[in-house]
Amino acid sequence: KKPPARKGSMADVPQNLLDEIHELENLFSVSNEKLQEITKHFITELDKGLSKKGGNIPMIPGWVMEYPTGTESGDFLAIDLGGTNLRVVLIKLGGDRTFDSTQSKYKIPEEMRTSQNRDDIFGFIAESLKAFVDEQFPQGVDKPLPLGFTFSFPASQDKINQGVLQRWTKGFDIPNVEGHDVVPLLQEQIAKRNIPIDVVALINDTTGTLVASLYTDADTKMGVIFGTGVNGAYYDVVSDIEKLQGRLADDIPNDSPMAINCEYGSFDNEHVVLPRNKFDLVIDEESPRPGQQAFEKMTSGYYLGELLRLALLELHGKGLIFQNQDISKLKQAYVMDTSYPSRIEEDPFENLEDTDELLQTDLGISTSVPERKLIRHLCELIGTRAARLSVCGIAAICQKRNYASGSIACDGSVFNRYPGFQEKAAQALRDIYGWTPGSPASYPIKLHAAEDGSGAGAAIIAALAQKRLAAGKS
Ligand code: GLC
Repeated sequence: KKPPARKGSMADVPQNLLDEIHELENLFSVSNEKLQEITKHFITELDKGLSKKGGNIPMIPGWVMEYPTGTESGDFLAIDLGGTNLRVVLIKLGGDRTFDSTQSKYKIPEEMRTSQNRDDIFGFIAESLKAFVDEQFPQGVDKPLPLGFTFSFPASQDKINQGVLQRWTKGFDIPNVEGHDVVPLLQEQIAKRNIPIDVVALINDTTGTLVASLYTDADTKMGVIFGTGVNGAYYDVVSDIEKLQGRLADDIPNDSPMAINCEYGSFDNEHVVLPRNKFDLVIDEESPRPGQQAFEKMTSGYYLGELLRLALLELHGKGLIFQNQDISKLKQAYVMDTSYPSRIEEDPFENLEDTDELLQTDLGISTSVPERKLIRHLCELIGTRAARLSVCGIAAICQKRNYASGSIACDGSVFNRYPGFQEKAAQALRDIYGWTPGSPASYPIKLHAAEDGSGAGAAIIAALAQKRLAAGKS
């Protein structure tokens, strides 16, 4: 194991680079006051999303209308589509707040994210499922396996086993899926291959995270993803969800809970409060969906490496770094994923030798020590801003629902792997609430690493859906 990262001295960094660092700080820093202002506006937008008229934040009812009891049991398949990999999981719910899982990951070929034929992606999922089922059940099965489909995109639902894609996010862009229910699209590909699987529930990853964590920890208030995308889910009460009026079956009581997938990555699409800088503007303009996912584009893993790349290009253009180097690789959009800023921030060496090697091997660029110190600083600014901004969604939900305490179940590659992210996010939450050390003695709202949401959560929700169906409830 490497020694912990040390902050290098800046003594050898020339004045023009130091000036640039100062400028970048201005571009990427977000004050506590600004975080509070953002949170306040966030609450208004969450409320709008629940109204009949609607707003920018979709606030999608997930039709999970009970809390898990911990006694749900049985074998379920779960798949998770929405990040870099497709995950297929077999979950055995123990019925006693425990579960076992076996999983395989299938790398989604890059070109499939933007394939022109929708059958490619659903066919790929079905193929992966087939491989998994053949391996796990070589003797076959006596009845179809129930599957919970974690589809981590904004999908409208009128019932649990349905999901009409509103719009692709996170760089996915496949024609003829927006506006369609993805459950039959998948079921069709499954049927074509004769795989014994029934898709019984469609779930967002945040809802899965919420439910999986509630299964083991009754204090859970939200399920949150800080990953390729950024989003959160919580339970509201149906009588407080104006847009459900007239859409609810008679057997659903007014005080029934309802899980809401906020889709708050689209917060501030109207651009009134987020401090977007010139790099954010470029990311937006060059994305397949300009004007969408404003909040997500500043905070999620899909974009952090690209922010770094754009800033590096600008520094190069200003004659500050990479002089006389061939930067053709760096000119390729999205060539740097989040592992770049992440590895650079993790570099334990005073002179950033790991960073040197990374830029050398992957991009063919040689750097001086002061250049690398500037780059490291830039990465810290990008990562810190993401952590600070992204907790505004959490504070907004907690304030809206008057949660004075509780546990926020967090998952996603950025939360789990980006160095320092968890501490910075926790600090930002304290900054929003104005909690200074000792006030209160232990901070009442805590960020915790979640239970496996896209696996266990999907399975538990599938179990709840089956139970509802068996009881003849709508
Ligand atoms: C994007 C998706 C959302 C998902 C999030 C995290 O924001 O639209 O559905 O929950 O990414 O994966």
